[in-house]
Amino acid sequence: MPARARAAVASLAPGVSAPWIAQAASKGTRVFGDVGWDDTGAWDLAALPDLRHCEAFLPNAEEAMRYTGADCPRAAAHALTEYVPVAVVTLGADGAYAVDRRTGETAEVPAIEVEALDPTGAGDVFVAGFVTGTLADWPLADRLAFAGLTAALSVQEFGGSLSAPGWAEIAGWWRRVQSVEGQSQAALRRYGFLAGLVPEELVRPWPLRRAVPTIGFRRSA
Ligand SMILES: Nc1ncnc2c1ncn2[C@@H]1O[C@H](COP(=O)(O)OP(=O)(O)OP(=O)(O)O)[C@@H](O)[C@H]1O
Ligand SMILES: [Mg+2]
Repeated sequence: MPARARAAVASLAPGVSAPWIAQAASKGTRVFGDVGWDDTGAWDLAALPDLRHCEAFLPNAEEAMRYTGADCPRAAAHALTEYVPVAVVTLGADGAYAVDRRTGETAEVPAIEVEALDPTGAGDVFVAGFVTGTLADWPLADRLAFAGLTAALSVQEFGGSLSAPGWAEIAGWWRRVQSVEGQSQAALRRYGFLAGLVPEELVRPWPLRRAVPTIGFRRSA
């Protein structure tokens, strides 16, 4: 029996059913489904039986198009809402697009331009950011913007989960972008929900120094 939790992320894989997912959902845990490349090549949503326990499904554009047969990521997101209430399709450096079948809302948010050093884990960090915003009851577009910001900050650093930003980094980014000369006011407004969210005492000078994970840096002799 899984521990009680408000939310859980399930890594869905073709032909695999994980009993904890149905159990968690039946106890009121909100399940967010992630997915990866289908090595079987079948790309059949019926092979993801636990998708029906998910509140949201977050494939990348290529995965979403293959699973639905749609020829663009936005059409794929709409098609996915036949299977899951909220479909979020990530578009790499182009951002993300989402549809909420329950409210009829759609949202698209561009990615934040960053120097991408290592995209490992961008998808995972994006999901974590989306879960955070969902539990806080934010509007869909704010949830996408927040997820995209956390993912963008993570690709600037080496590593997967270790490169996920904390509140101090989000606070530092928010303060810095407001001081950039010629900054588009419309773009700033998109992240206006961050004001009041990030405590002043957390703001430290940008860029923050981070511990660099040593994993993966070993050279063979
Ligand atoms: N180069 C980038 N610059 C800015 N943001 C990025 C970049 N790459 C990814 N992101 C952010 O991360 C999100 C997820 O990226 P992507 O669509 O590549 O997912 P993915 O293919 O599932 O990644 P993963 O390889 O981690 O599984 C994007 O929607 C975007 O918000
Ligand atoms: Mg992924």
